[in-house]
Amino acid sequence: METTRIAGIERPVSRIGLGTWAIGGWMWGGTDDEASIRTIRKALDAGINLIDTAPVYGFGHSEEVVGRALDGRRDQAVIATKVALEWPDGKPQRNASAARIRQEIEDSLRRLRTDHIDLYQVHWPDERVPAEETAGELARLHRDGKILSIGVSNYDPAQMEDFRRFAPLAVVQSPYNLFERAIDADVLPYARDTGLTVLAYGALCRGLLSGRMRADTAFTGDDLRRSDPKFQPPHYAQYLAAARALQGFAAQRFGKSLLALAIRWILDQGPTIALWGARRPDQLDGIDAAFGWHLSAQDLAAIDRLLAENITDPVGPEFMAPTP
Ligand SMILES: NC(=O)c1ccc[n+]([C@@H]2O[C@H](COP(=O)([O-])OP(=O)(O)OC[C@H]3O[C@@H](n4cnc5c(N)ncnc54)[C@H](OP(=O)(O)O)[C@@H]3O)[C@@H](O)[C@H]2O)c1
Repeated sequence: METTRIAGIERPVSRIGLGTWAIGGWMWGGTDDEASIRTIRKALDAGINLIDTAPVYGFGHSEEVVGRALDGRRDQAVIATKVALEWPDGKPQRNASAARIRQEIEDSLRRLRTDHIDLYQVHWPDERVPAEETAGELARLHRDGKILSIGVSNYDPAQMEDFRRFAPLAVVQSPYNLFERAIDADVLPYARDTGLTVLAYGALCRGLLSGRMRADTAFTGDDLRRSDPKFQPPHYAQYLAAARALQGFAAQRFGKSLLALAIRWILDQGPTIALWGARRPDQLDGIDAAFGWHLSAQDLAAIDRLLAENITDPVGPEFMAPTP
């Protein structure tokens, strides 16, 4: 396992983090807690110590399952959770007020069965609350030892500059994968220049980069891929074609899978950690294939050509943004 450092956290952090959104069930067509717990424990056994969750994932359920899985193994894990969404009537909306943060930290600590959170991240920027209030409250939690490190998610550089006037910032969590590269233009260079670690979320583009997706793959219940524009015409056929082309490239050039290429690509872009969403133990089987090799400048250019040839109508992950 490759590791990196996150300011404020003493131990090395794995450069693959386990994403537990699907483990909450909500927006992923349901969940099987027993399989989730085995997945989290298998991740620890495989050297993944970073576990990323959020209160909104299953409205507390993901955090609860993470807490159960880590019972007796808390000291092996770096827990990253989030704050500043609420969900009246089951509809997530932003609330980064100090009062909301004070309530959420206690709920998260209880569900996660711990007395501290290693990395605490503002889930989405809330323009209605001044940075001084949000960051100031997190700085207080940091001073009190309830959180070891502070992150923001879905922030742009200007929002981060504002936030950093009031609290030490270690991490930015952003959408980033072979198919979703908007942060190349701003957040990634900003992170490089200012010493932030980037947690790249959606590392497999919600499974499109796993190698499993086919034209007739069906999703059930409230699975977000039933409405994700990438999984609808005309985009879906283009992303599937791009995935096939990348799969061929990975096999021919490196003898690797598409999934290994997707993770390696993220790790070769800079100060990044790939957040890989998994909810069944077998989904973690390919982990080792991501390590021990690198993509050259020529490889990266070849990948860019394959993407440009196949994806003529690109579409981003904006559909996931909660009500401002
Ligand atoms: N900060 C934010 O706003 C934000 C937003 C989104 C995500 N995130 C974080 O980033 C994490 C990762 O993103 P994500 O969960 O959205 O998606 P992802 O990592 O792009 O994809 C996860 C999905 O890919 C499929 N998959 C995983 N391993 C596989 C394998 N070996 N073979 C075949 N399919 C495989 C699974 O789908 P099936 O189980 O359906 O097959 C899995 O649920 C999240 O869990 C969350 O922690 C944060």
